[in-house]
Amino acid sequence: MSAPAGRAHRVLAATAAVVVGTLAVGMAVAAPSSAAAEPTLGELAAAKGRYFGSATDNPTLDNASYTAVLGSEFNQITVGNTQKWMYTEPSRGQFDYTKADQIVAFAQQHDQIVRGHTLVWHNQLPDWVNSVSAGDLPDVMRNHIANVAGHFKGKVVHWDVVNEAFEEDGTRRQSVFQQKIGDSYIAEAFKAARAADPNAKLYYNDYNIEGIGSKSDAVYNLVKSFKQQGVPIDGVGLQAHLILGQVPSTLQRNIQRFADLGVDVAITELDIRMRTPRDATKDAQQAADYRTVTKACLAVTRCVGITVWDFSDGYSWIPSVFPGEGAALIYDEDFARKPSYWAVYEALGGTTTTTTTTTGDNGSGCTATYRVTSQWNGGYQGEVAVRNTGATATARWTVKWTLAQGQTVGNLWNGVATTNGQEVTVRNANYNGAIAPGDTTTFGFLGSWIGTNPVPATITCTSA
Ligand code: G3I
Repeated sequence: MSAPAGRAHRVLAATAAVVVGTLAVGMAVAAPSSAAAEPTLGELAAAKGRYFGSATDNPTLDNASYTAVLGSEFNQITVGNTQKWMYTEPSRGQFDYTKADQIVAFAQQHDQIVRGHTLVWHNQLPDWVNSVSAGDLPDVMRNHIANVAGHFKGKVVHWDVVNEAFEEDGTRRQSVFQQKIGDSYIAEAFKAARAADPNAKLYYNDYNIEGIGSKSDAVYNLVKSFKQQGVPIDGVGLQAHLILGQVPSTLQRNIQRFADLGVDVAITELDIRMRTPRDATKDAQQAADYRTVTKACLAVTRCVGITVWDFSDGYSWIPSVFPGEGAALIYDEDFARKPSYWAVYEALGGTTTTTTTTTGDNGSGCTATYRVTSQWNGGYQGEVAVRNTGATATARWTVKWTLAQGQTVGNLWNGVATTNGQEVTVRNANYNGAIAPGDTTTFGFLGSWIGTNPVPATITCTSA
């Protein structure tokens, strides 16, 4: 499948397309002028002063369908692997930035900011580091940071300076750095990073610190002590490799308590895994979970952005590490947007519904609420809910909208459709014209789209 066309960066046009008013029968409601363009997640996040990004890895940059989405939908990129030590300093003192430079160049070409990941981590560490003497390791670590952060100076906005330094119980992980340098290695790493790139925001990044608990308490205490001692730290990254239905209830409170220490917070590696295969129930739960995470970040001013750990289920690390689990991201393997995508889209302020009120002969008429329930490249499913807002039952109803972007409406159920140019008219079927006061009936349809598929700026409902 091809990726969505026409999703190049645009000035945000995410104005709500919800229009409610009481008008004469059949009269259209004035459209907000900017309702036509469908904003990207990056654009929606930018309108909230945030970024919404994705991690990526070098092999996927050869896939045009993949890069079409990566380059247009997100306003931030994290280098998923190739800034790590094993790639950047495979032999002592020998630095190689070829692969990471490719990703940074891609981001720059697409106006995307870059989070640097990661300078000091026990994993993906070349073997030679484990054999460095305790006496030499502080200098080796500082030299690595100076070189890598120096190379990317001005090109990354954040660095994950130290990654995953704590165990679940809040004690220090016994990495080679901890064992040979001791507790001070984290502060030393942050000082070296600040010296190498004074403008990058310096983050401590970890998993299972999304909610309040022993591990996040340990990070909290670390940040607090760094602030007291003047060790340079600017942010905490909550990786957020989450499990379906298990978003920690203390997520927002936890983000807020870090913010209250005077640091930024980022959701740095979000994915929400499930037992595969997917089904509609799991998809709905996942959508709810993505919405919860997005809203928790938006609720705290210092939560600066969200990064998904790659965006397509076909490119996730989960199935290889957790057999039988996966489907953790917001696009499926074919780059179709999942319910979780639309949940994020809505949480960031995007509009997937249009509601219009008109009058009718049954008291005060009916409302029609239009919603795109799912969308994939070239196709979509829509649903319109018709609600009787009058004092008496309806005998019949008519709903109209305009296909402003060249979409089509194909198979339609629970109604009878006619189209006239761009205008779609749907009348009740012979079995659902009668709606009791306050009740709702719905009809649905399949359609096609090219470029963008915004919800209609207006939809009218008339009833008798
Ligand atoms: O590049 C080699 C390839 O040449 C070889 O054929 C293949 C065979 O297995 O392996 C490839 O390397 C893999 C590498 O990813 C690049 O794809 C490694 O085996 C694999 O272990 C490695 O996994 C990465 C993992 O970190 C390592 O712990 C994942 O891609 C990466 O997404 C993941 O990211 C981490 C974050 O950095 C920190 N937080 C957790 C997160 C998920 O584990």
